[in-house]
Formats: sequence, C-alpha cells, structure tokens
Amino acid sequence: MLIRPPADIRSSEITPQALYRARRDFLKATLAGGLALAAGIGGTGAARAATFAELPASPLSTEEPPNSLHDITHYNNFYELGTDKRDPARFAAHLKTRPWSLAVEGECEQPAVYAIEDFVRPHALEERIYRLRCVEGWSMVIPWVGFPLAEVIRQARPTSRAKYVEFTTLHDPKMLPGQRVRVLDWPYVEGLRLDEAMHPLTILAVGLYGEVLPNQNGAPLRLVVPWKYGFKSIKSIVRIRFIEERPVSSWMKAAPREYGFYSNVNPEVAHPRWSQATERRIGEFRKRDTLMFNGYGEQVASLYAGMDLRKHF
Ligand code: MTE
Repeated sequence: MLIRPPADIRSSEITPQALYRARRDFLKATLAGGLALAAGIGGTGAARAATFAELPASPLSTEEPPNSLHDITHYNNFYELGTDKRDPARFAAHLKTRPWSLAVEGECEQPAVYAIEDFVRPHALEERIYRLRCVEGWSMVIPWVGFPLAEVIRQARPTSRAKYVEFTTLHDPKMLPGQRVRVLDWPYVEGLRLDEAMHPLTILAVGLYGEVLPNQNGAPLRLVVPWKYGFKSIKSIVRIRFIEERPVSSWMKAAPREYGFYSNVNPEVAHPRWSQATERRIGEFRKRDTLMFNGYGEQVASLYAGMDLRKHF
C-alpha cells in the first residue's frame, strides 16, 4: 500500500497515485502558510554540544558500523511530516517537543503522566547500536540513546488483564502538518504483546549519536524494536496504554493484507508485493541477505515458539 517497495525500484515506477497526491497536498498545506522551515536537527546547528557524552555502550549493540548522522537524519519515514524521505528533515522544526508528556494508562495499578524531563537523565541512559530494517527493503545501523521500555512498564504495574501495549503518536496537525492529509487514520498507533514490550531489546529512545533525538527521528520519545520492521518503532509517543485485546495498528487498518500485527523481520515471508529476502544498507549498493528477526533470533525466537509465522506475519 503506502509504505513503498524496495529502494532499487525507481520510485517513478512504483509510487502509488494516492501517495503522490498526498505528497502534493502536504506540500501545498505546509508551503502555503509560509511555513517552509529549514532542515536541521535540534535547530542550532554547529554550536550544539554533545548532550549525552560517555554513555555506557550496551552489550546488546551490533558491531556493524553505524550509518552517518546525515543519512540517519535525512532519509526518514515520518508521514506526519510528509511522505517523501526528505520531508521529515525539511519540516522537522514544525514539531515542538517541550513541554511534552507521556501518559501511561489502562490496565495497570500505577497509571502516571511523565514529563519528558523524567526520562532525559544521562545516568539512566545507554547507547544501543541497532540495525533498523524497513519493510521497504532498506536498512540502517543507528546508535540510539535510550533505556528499556520495561522500566516504564514495571513502574506502572500492569494488571493480569494487560495482554498488550498500545502506543500512540501526538495528534496535532499544526505541529505535524502531514496529519492534514489523510494518508493514514491519524494518530499513528502501534502495538506489542506485553512480553515483547518487556523484552530487554525493546527500548524507548530519547537520542541518537550522543545527542537529543532529532525531531525527524521521532523526538522527544520513540519506540525501537529492532527485530521488527521499522514501522513498529513508533515516533513522538504521547500515550502508552495496557489493554486486554490486541490493538489495531495504523498500518493494519490501512492495509490488513500487507501489514500484520507481529511484523517480525522474516526473509521467508514475502510482502504481498515484494520479497523480503534481501535488503540494501543505506549508503551501499550491494544487497545483503535479510536475517531472520533482523539477526536477533537468539534473543527473541523463543517469544514465538510454536507459532506459525506465515500466519502471524
Ligand atoms: N512513527 C510515526 N508516528 N509515523 C511514521 O510515519 N514511520 C515508521 C517508523 N515510525 C513512522 C513512525 C517507519 S515506516 C519507519 S521505517 C521508521 O519509523 C523510520 O525511523 P527513522 O526515520 O528514524 O529511521
């Protein structure tokens, strides 16, 4: 559907009409108001000091070299800031990330509302270098700054009815002008099973490359689930809710045949319109074989023991 197929197919050949139209409408909506803002991460350019210096590196990090800061911040999917890969950097400054709060609610004994400042404490953070495999057929290696989502979940004390965790992105068409165009049913929603959410690989990120998270990468707080296709890693989160029933994510709603709830990286299960067997690392030309669970099988395969992963794609 709207998430595009592999990058080696020329986009002029495959960009669906609806996506083309959405992008044109989005540009009209943002440019008409004189709101075209310069790109930039965090805004102040060269004068920015490293914010999270000397963080401990997680043993769960990959040893592959990270992509460049430029690639990571100028080749993005964040449809709330436009559907072209360059749009999120161009329109990043629309999004204001202070004040920002995160509501943790639903089936739990200790619901809470956190201010973002509660999470940006260097002593509680670490660097996690993870591969991100996008469903479109490309991948990147990103040095995130974050902490395990399990910490927030434990504080909330989910009840026995809590089977799933639902995540919701900010809904504010002024700050996220892509939401003026109905590419998806806004706000963006994602979900995990509670045990997936509690897994030590699952983090909430507040930065990358040792600095505060750039807006285009989902500031001020985004999920990172490295064994799942990139679209599960929801950006700019304002709500985490514990629920009994499986949530319906935005992509499942938009195209249920193409995007399942699990969305585990799986070279053996093709997307209905393209293979998932290989990927192209951004910055390279050669193709790499895509690894089961994006290479994190040893850590996560047991979560899916006995499940038919063709059915639960
Ligand atoms: N979260 C929101 N709210 N909106 C989006 O459009 N895109 C997803 C995911 N999270 C998206 C989102 C997709 S398709 C991918 S591949 C990753 O973000 C990309 O993250 P990155 O731009 O930081 O590499």
